[in-house]
Amino acid sequence: MGLTELVRERRSIRKFNHLPVSQELVVELLEKATQLYHLEEAARWRYVYAGTPEARERLSDYMLEKMKENKLVKLVPDKMMGIIKKRFTEIPANLIVIAETDPDRRKSDENYAAVCSIMQIFQLLGWERGLGMLWDTERTIQNELFYQRIGVREGERFVGILHLGYFDKVPRGRGRTPAEKKWTVKG
Ligand SMILES: Cc1cc2nc3c(=O)[nH]c(=O)nc-3n(C[C@H](O)[C@H](O)[C@H](O)COP(=O)(O)O)c2cc1C
Repeated sequence: MGLTELVRERRSIRKFNHLPVSQELVVELLEKATQLYHLEEAARWRYVYAGTPEARERLSDYMLEKMKENKLVKLVPDKMMGIIKKRFTEIPANLIVIAETDPDRRKSDENYAAVCSIMQIFQLLGWERGLGMLWDTERTIQNELFYQRIGVREGERFVGILHLGYFDKVPRGRGRTPAEKKWTVKG
């Protein structure tokens, strides 16, 4: 697959099938993605992998913990919450991405941007191998309790979770904004 085609055709996958994801493949693709991103200084980041049934269940609990404090969510019947938890737990693998921060704002931003770039390259490399992903930054997981649960330390920043798995169906792509609509030509 050519690069243009790969970038154009990759889709976010929200519905995975039950095929297991190999941790070795994830590591291989992460190493490749890191090598493909050239920066003067290496990106400073780490990831936490939740791929075993136990780790996936624990992560699901953490993802739901803060959500359950919400008054409206409290009204949701237990059975429904059970279905949501099952959906989370069934995700074949999860890669939690954590970037280092820096007291220097520019350095911090640069590192965060580098980590995001590596994640996108990783998504593309995965797509080439039939591995689908969803980059998750939902509001429900953007809170101190969740960061504490997943072990984000001082001097670190949670970037997102990449949910990983194989899929049976490719969703249709959303429309894209033409570049011309995003720029201003100064006369
Ligand atoms: C930085 C970033 C954060 C995202 N966070 C979420 C998210 O929290 N929930 C979600 O459903 N999709 C999330 N996505 C996926 C986007 O919604 C998705 O890329 C967009 O709908 C375009 O679809 P496509 O990836 O199939 O082209 C995120 C994507 C990026 C790049």
